[in-house]
Amino acid sequence: MRVLVTRRWPDTVEHALSDSFEVVLNDSDAPLSQADLASAMGEFDVLAPTVSDTIDADIIAGGDRCRLIANYGVGFDHIDVGAAKAKGIAVTNTPGVLTDATADLALTLILMAARRAGEGERELRAGAWNGWRPTHLIGSALRDKVLGIVGFGRIGQATAERAHHGFGMKIAYYARGPKDEAQALDAEYCATVPDLLAKSDFVSLHVPGGNDTAHLIDADALAAMKPGSYLVNTARGGVVDHDALAEALISGYLAGAGLDVYPEEPDVPAALLQLENVVLLPHLGSANAETREAMGMRALANIEAFAKGSGLPDRVA
Ligand code: DGY
Repeated sequence: MRVLVTRRWPDTVEHALSDSFEVVLNDSDAPLSQADLASAMGEFDVLAPTVSDTIDADIIAGGDRCRLIANYGVGFDHIDVGAAKAKGIAVTNTPGVLTDATADLALTLILMAARRAGEGERELRAGAWNGWRPTHLIGSALRDKVLGIVGFGRIGQATAERAHHGFGMKIAYYARGPKDEAQALDAEYCATVPDLLAKSDFVSLHVPGGNDTAHLIDADALAAMKPGSYLVNTARGGVVDHDALAEALISGYLAGAGLDVYPEEPDVPAALLQLENVVLLPHLGSANAETREAMGMRALANIEAFAKGSGLPDRVA
């Protein structure tokens, strides 16, 4: 069985994969072109892409050999699952294993935005720090502030746990319906996103990307947020209208934001790069050694199940 891995994976996983299958690895780690991805569909039984590959209908139409797209990552909005399904190609992802890492990063962004850590570091490195003074780079406390979680799945809940038990924040959340897990966090359910936004001092996004959530946080949603509040996004860039966000940050309506994801990665909206009150990270949500290895092992488990003809553990289409 021939497997194409589109980017470098942790060594341990690449070795484990190569021990079992005929694998083509990407030693240079350069992203494959759309033409290369399309022709891979005719040359490999399994394509193992990441969020940096756009697997659209044209790619899926590129050949008839591929029967499994084993994504390295939990989000799969970069894959046209409808087109894959129509062609009888299974799609799997890697859920569960990156929950803690992503929740840790959401808290990193909340803390960095609230405590103006990026601004402070830039000032210090520029040699512009004049020393301690009572009014220097004053941020916001977290205790007793309301953290609004949009999307109360695994990562949303893990973020809420950290914020509540670790930092004394009050939790409110939006989901399609109330969740039992909310009780342990004394979390308040909001039946609509605007209700949640109106009562939150900090808002953290944890919904999947794709058409259903595109620009969920648009100009109207930003206007529904509390003046002086903060927005954090570790989900997908397309969930936020970045032009509207830049305006809300420039006007000072929002106190700050923390972003890990962008609509057209690796491009970052130019307006945001100019602003001091936004923390910008390069899609690091799952980037710790343990998590990246676990993601690879989970993708491998799906490929092994496929090779054996048994049920795929993490089938999404
Ligand atoms: C995920 O797993 O979806 C992360 O965003 C990396 O792709």
